[in-house]
Amino acid sequence: METLYAEGSQLSLAVSESGRDWAVPEQQLTVMILEPASAPTMSVVMKVSFEDARSGCTRLAILKMFDRRFAPSVRRRINPVYDDDAESAWCEYVRDGKAPALFAFLHEQLRLEDEGITRPPRTEEEMRVKKGKKEGIMQWKALQLFEDETRAYATLSHFQGRYIPRFFAQVYLTVKEPSPDPHNSDDNNPTLRPEYFQIPGVLLEYVDGFNLTDLGSTNVPQHKWHSIIQQAVDAARYINDAGVINTDCQPRNVVVQRETLRPLHIDFAQCLFAEDMGWEEFGETKIMIDNQGAIGTVMVGKLQRAGVKLPEIRYNRFRDWGRVGRILTHFPFAVTPWSGVGYGVGVGVLILAWVVVRRRGILRGLNYFRNR
Ligand SMILES: Nc1ncnc2c1ncn2[C@@H]1O[C@H](COP(=O)(O)OP(=O)(O)OP(=O)(O)O)[C@@H](O)[C@H]1O
Ligand SMILES: [Mg+2]
Repeated sequence: METLYAEGSQLSLAVSESGRDWAVPEQQLTVMILEPASAPTMSVVMKVSFEDARSGCTRLAILKMFDRRFAPSVRRRINPVYDDDAESAWCEYVRDGKAPALFAFLHEQLRLEDEGITRPPRTEEEMRVKKGKKEGIMQWKALQLFEDETRAYATLSHFQGRYIPRFFAQVYLTVKEPSPDPHNSDDNNPTLRPEYFQIPGVLLEYVDGFNLTDLGSTNVPQHKWHSIIQQAVDAARYINDAGVINTDCQPRNVVVQRETLRPLHIDFAQCLFAEDMGWEEFGETKIMIDNQGAIGTVMVGKLQRAGVKLPEIRYNRFRDWGRVGRILTHFPFAVTPWSGVGYGVGVGVLILAWVVVRRRGILRGLNYFRNR
């Protein structure tokens, strides 16, 4: 099937700037595709331009669409071929009311997997149903990737423009929906649920630069390489400290801004969140997955193989600000008038002790010089 995402084409997107719900589209946005960023894998990524209604000027952006139809990594092993027949099988599947049970089943399977329980795959009786179901599985997977990406950008909102690109909007493209089932006049008709036929995407700030993995083949002077890699490693740590682990963290998913040489992490479609597992487990998982090493060790190894020796990269795998924050919030700081006085006296005594120790040190220093 011919792709919608060809260079020079225009796309009309529904925009939802707020919330993560399948909200009724708040406004329309037309983007012009300038160039596809790479061959699609998990999603379709492209450089676009659009008119910014607020400033009235044209802006560059990256549009990342979680489109099951054109993402080979999502389709592989399920049904690599997408054609009209696959889409109509999915329409039939949804119209027959089977989609809600499928999505519920997949959610449950994910939960069981998280708990380490695996179930044997279920058998299908009918090829047609199976084909529709496969499209549903891929739609669901694409939604999961979109969920993680938007959630990571929201969790890391304070890092936008610094360690990650700015997030402009979440967008939706509507695929031709099946005509509603004439036998089902119910308002809850599953055919009408938007998540089955809308293609979600994210519109991100375009970072003019190159992938960190290509650092060795750019014209960036070699004496700057170490600092760029170190900054990318540090950014991975800050992202972890904010409660996000990118399970697909790698040099390919870091873009180095050409002008400033600042590395920005991208591609948060596969993440783990401290919010879901608690800081205790998050801390252990963070060390196991090792986002910092996935950037630093990999880049140093790659450059070493090309004959370049860099100064050592600093890693800080054990400082755990997330846990420090948690301990502070759990500390029983019950403030009553008397405990307030108590804390005040305690802090005063500590300051006094510190001043005495410092002064003694200074006096000892003076005596030393006097006695010389
Ligand atoms: N904000 C951005 N600014 C500039 N380039 C970007 C941006 N986001 C993505 N890209 C480019 O698009 C490529 C693919 O983006 P991304 O990694 O988010 O998608 P993906 O579907 O996970 O792709 P892949 O599986 O190839 O990693 C990146 O390697 C990068 O070159
Ligand atoms: Mg990527």
